[in-house]
Amino acid sequence: MVAVPSLFSLRHLLVLSLALNVSLILRALYHESGEGNKWWFCFKKKMMADAESWLAISSTPSLHNSTREKVINLDHGDPTMYERFWRQMGDKTTITIPGWQSMSYLSDVSKICWFLEPEFATEVVRLHRVVGNAVTEGRHIVVGTGSSQLILAALYALSSPHAAEPISVVSAAPYYSSYPSMADYQKSGLYQWAGDAENFDKEGPYIELVTSPNNPDGYRRKSMVNRSQGLLIHDLAYYWPQYTPISSPSDHDLTLFTASKSTGHAGMRIGWALVKDKEVAKKMTKFIELNTIGVSKDSQLRAAKVLKAVSESCEQENHQNGESFFKYSYNLMAQRWKQLREVVDAGDMFTLPQFSPAFCTFFGKETEPQPAFMWLKCVDVEDCETFLRGHKILTRSGRQFGASPKYVRISMLDTDETFIELIERLSAIQELE
Ligand SMILES: Cc1ncc(COP(=O)(O)O)c(C=O)c1O
Repeated sequence: MVAVPSLFSLRHLLVLSLALNVSLILRALYHESGEGNKWWFCFKKKMMADAESWLAISSTPSLHNSTREKVINLDHGDPTMYERFWRQMGDKTTITIPGWQSMSYLSDVSKICWFLEPEFATEVVRLHRVVGNAVTEGRHIVVGTGSSQLILAALYALSSPHAAEPISVVSAAPYYSSYPSMADYQKSGLYQWAGDAENFDKEGPYIELVTSPNNPDGYRRKSMVNRSQGLLIHDLAYYWPQYTPISSPSDHDLTLFTASKSTGHAGMRIGWALVKDKEVAKKMTKFIELNTIGVSKDSQLRAAKVLKAVSESCEQENHQNGESFFKYSYNLMAQRWKQLREVVDAGDMFTLPQFSPAFCTFFGKETEPQPAFMWLKCVDVEDCETFLRGHKILTRSGRQFGASPKYVRISMLDTDETFIELIERLSAIQELE
């Protein structure tokens, strides 16, 4: 006979067996009633969740300790949360590229961005029209290897080789932690990081990075310095309906988007810029030409397929009763933020930013911001990152965002498994303190 692992007591097995038996009986009844799959799926999910939570409550300390040993790394914003949706889409976004295809460096030489694949450009325009989050008319599209490359291309394009000194690059704190090193790592003579936009008082031209909604804190942002010689880069990586209400199409001089945070395809390394000024678009293209002689055509073709599937999921939602990508991801984010707020509100250890709901033109109703990161404050702890590392939760310190170490940024975009583990650990910390 197979030995029952000591992890499970007789009580655990009884509950599991009860859950499985009831579910089997109901499944038989349900199939007779012939009502489709939805109800059954919900019921089964609830049954299993109940059984699991019972097991969790009554499990032995050794079970808890073994999972608590694991380090969970939520320092990066790796968007693995979206994988389930794309698995469900099956072959809809599968592409086959024969060996003879995409061989040339060139894509469309009639365009300023000569390495931009026409199919990809078409799908960018279509997606922004469907979502209503950006004006594309009168804009040049510049594709980049992620929006990271486009940030560098934009800094290059907006600075002048004839200036007496490097142009200052600023962003309001807490700012995206990569901006300072992006601006300074090559010690460029063209531009230089000058810190928090709120404290910037130097006369003359400057470049301001405006991130809206903001990484790390999720608030909507406008330019902070607001002076005539300011050149603005709007980094709208998170201006998508799952993260924030879409109020109107963005209409700026230079706007950046990325597949990494919109559809979750960070590994594809595709971003795009919408650029009003022809000369700026030309210089950005030149930068990418010098840097990587264009952007992978394979990735652009894959990105075109993914963006097309997202647009179609939105367009078909009403006709086919399916769920659009944004509805799916919005609901998942809403569920996560609800769970997070419940845990944080249950104790005095932590606080979170508060947001006001606003009308979202995409969903046609009021929605709440639900950022891709939580910007968590440890109320009585000076160094929140070290404190959480002690509980085997890796986060990014507020210091890296030009803010207080009492804050940390934690990704909300990881797998269900990691997110649940995070919630359990935060809850256990609150109970301990
Ligand atoms: C605000 C912001 N901009 C740009 C990026 C870079 O994105 P990618 O290079 O993956 O397109 C990120 C990634 O986290 C981000 O949060």
